[in-house]
Amino acid sequence: MKGRVMGTEHVKEVVREKYGQAALRAKTGAASSCCGGAAAGDLCCDPITSSLYDAGQEGEVPDLALRASLGCGNPTALAELKQGETVLDLGSGGGIDVLLSARRVGPTGKAYGLDMTDEMLAVAEENKRKSGLENVEFLKGEIEHIPLPDNSVDVIISNCVINLSGDKDRVIKEAFRVLKPGGRFAVSDVVVRGDVPAEIRTSMELWVGCVAGALGDYEYVAKLAKAGFDSIDIEATRVYSIADARTFLAGEGLDADALAKQVEGAFISGFIRATKPTAAACCGPSCCN
Ligand SMILES: C[S@@+](CC[C@H](N)C(=O)[O-])C[C@H]1O[C@@H](n2cnc3c(N)ncnc32)[C@H](O)[C@@H]1O
Repeated sequence: MKGRVMGTEHVKEVVREKYGQAALRAKTGAASSCCGGAAAGDLCCDPITSSLYDAGQEGEVPDLALRASLGCGNPTALAELKQGETVLDLGSGGGIDVLLSARRVGPTGKAYGLDMTDEMLAVAEENKRKSGLENVEFLKGEIEHIPLPDNSVDVIISNCVINLSGDKDRVIKEAFRVLKPGGRFAVSDVVVRGDVPAEIRTSMELWVGCVAGALGDYEYVAKLAKAGFDSIDIEATRVYSIADARTFLAGEGLDADALAKQVEGAFISGFIRATKPTAAACCGPSCCN
């Protein structure tokens, strides 16, 4: 995947295959992690996907949902969900954030999960059944073509998925379309801060598992603003250390010590917030008809 020249459809094939296998691993009782720097036998120490949820949250979901967890943040902890809200999780995987959201919004609210990988959807359905939650629905589809109507969702969450998409503008545009006016975008994703040379960036992104590449922080803000969002903010929730990626980088023929200055602190898990303006805020006197 060096060089980042995969077409959008090829990206999807690679992602589907990779996460299909991860779902099957989770079902056999293994942790599903397939991205990040941990070697196969060292998944407990994966610095990207491990220790994202507190003990209270872990107790709210079936073990299978925890094993299938492949995020890089904890969007429901930060999204300030309220009773009665409708939440959509883009790339919901085994469903952990959908189940947590469903509990936050309660029986008068609804939590949708959207994923394109059949094996992940099967794991998510099993987790829904085990959790006994009725305000949950998993949809099959692509985050670039969200199968929900305009203005129908209060909060969009996502956990380490937008970096996998080969068409991030389209994803953000779709998120804006389905959000109600005043709706919130509350997403965890890998983000790159500052200038990192292309070759190193590609290797670090492979290590983190970002199939189509992480956005730079300014790029992310610009894309959200272009789609129409306001109140945009990116907060670092985890900063990846070059030391964690040492073995992987060595395998790529790169010397972590030599790269440290350029890379240390550049790769983060970010919590990205933005709001879809209300009609009153986004319209001039003549455009609200
Ligand atoms: C890194 S995993 C994250 C799963 C989940 N959010 C979590 O925190 O455990 C990525 C998930 O997104 C799904 N996915 C990736 N690209 C997608 C796309 N373009 N459309 C729909 N689902 C996608 C994959 O099938 C996979 O289940």
